[in-house]
Amino acid sequence: EKDGYKHFMLKEIFEQPRTIEDTFRGRIYPDEGRVYIEEVKLKLKEEYIKNISNIYIVACGTSYHSGLVSKFLFESFAKIPTEVDIASEFRYRDVILDEKTLVVVISQSGETADTLAALRLAKSKGCQTLAVCNVVGSSISREAMYVIYTHCGPEIGVASTKAFTGQVTALYVLALDWAYKREALTIKELKKYLKELWEIPLKINEFLKNAESVHDIAKVFANKRDFLYLGRHINYPVALEGALKIKEISYIHAEGYAAGEMKHGPIALIDKSMPIVAIVIKGRIYEKIISNIEEAKARGGTIIAVADQSDKEIGNKSNYVIYVPETDEFVSPLMTVIPLQLLAYYISLILGCDVDQPRNLAKSVTVE
Ligand code: M6R
Repeated sequence: EKDGYKHFMLKEIFEQPRTIEDTFRGRIYPDEGRVYIEEVKLKLKEEYIKNISNIYIVACGTSYHSGLVSKFLFESFAKIPTEVDIASEFRYRDVILDEKTLVVVISQSGETADTLAALRLAKSKGCQTLAVCNVVGSSISREAMYVIYTHCGPEIGVASTKAFTGQVTALYVLALDWAYKREALTIKELKKYLKELWEIPLKINEFLKNAESVHDIAKVFANKRDFLYLGRHINYPVALEGALKIKEISYIHAEGYAAGEMKHGPIALIDKSMPIVAIVIKGRIYEKIISNIEEAKARGGTIIAVADQSDKEIGNKSNYVIYVPETDEFVSPLMTVIPLQLLAYYISLILGCDVDQPRNLAKSVTVE
């Protein structure tokens, strides 16, 4: 059942070109600029979509990170004010909610106790609720008013990989659909962004042919005690996700940071023994993150950059580079997360940890 892979996690990482495609197949038509999300329980009326005043996204762990990515999509594409919260926090705050608020819960398993409780709370306040789930018929998918499924197939590895890219894919499609319906995007822009998503599976496949290059980097850094992950804008959540992956399967301390926050404290941590994984993709904040990594490097930090293949400068500004095929910044998390998943996987492998069943963790957290 592992299809010849040593671990479920590795199999699931390599499945992503297909699971991303399975999640968008039948839903997007880039040439015509059409999006169809006409499935059962997703019958949000166009009138309603036009009037959504704000979105609350609620989830835990990796699903929370995909929520953070989609905040950028709902804001930049659909122009809907969007907040993202951790389910265990959301449920005990006095969140201001009403019927015009849409609460989106994200859960691979559909059984996470805090996320389910947050969904119930939102319903009790009269909000519309939409779930993004992978497991069909799960509690969350049954209780939400609307549901959009990711079509990733069963995820066995405790460390979530393909569920993350499936969730980002589903939310990307949703944000584009709503953006067009709310007249926040032109048909030309819609086609462009749909095409960017369409091309992602091929690009990931191309990158995965060089997975061994990430293994080589893992060999250099597997004995480190701490890691910093830096990103900005839509790749800031990817930095958080990269840090979570390495923590949970390698037991190495890691922190994800918005690179612009470095000088407000964490830069004090940097010395020669600190590897810094930085996502340095072309886009609106490229120059900014370059200057952030220059500052970190000047203090002795070792920079491992995840950068576009076409980036000719980055080699001089960092110590190691993992090149990925170029993507539009709004779709880039689907690409940039892949090397970070692999890095965590290979380090865990080198350290002899239990990759698929890390200590103290359960696949689905059904108690508070
Ligand atoms: O099934 P869910 O998506 O609701 O699970 C949420 C988290 O428990 C989950 O993403 C967890 O953080 C993973 N182990 C991360 O790899």
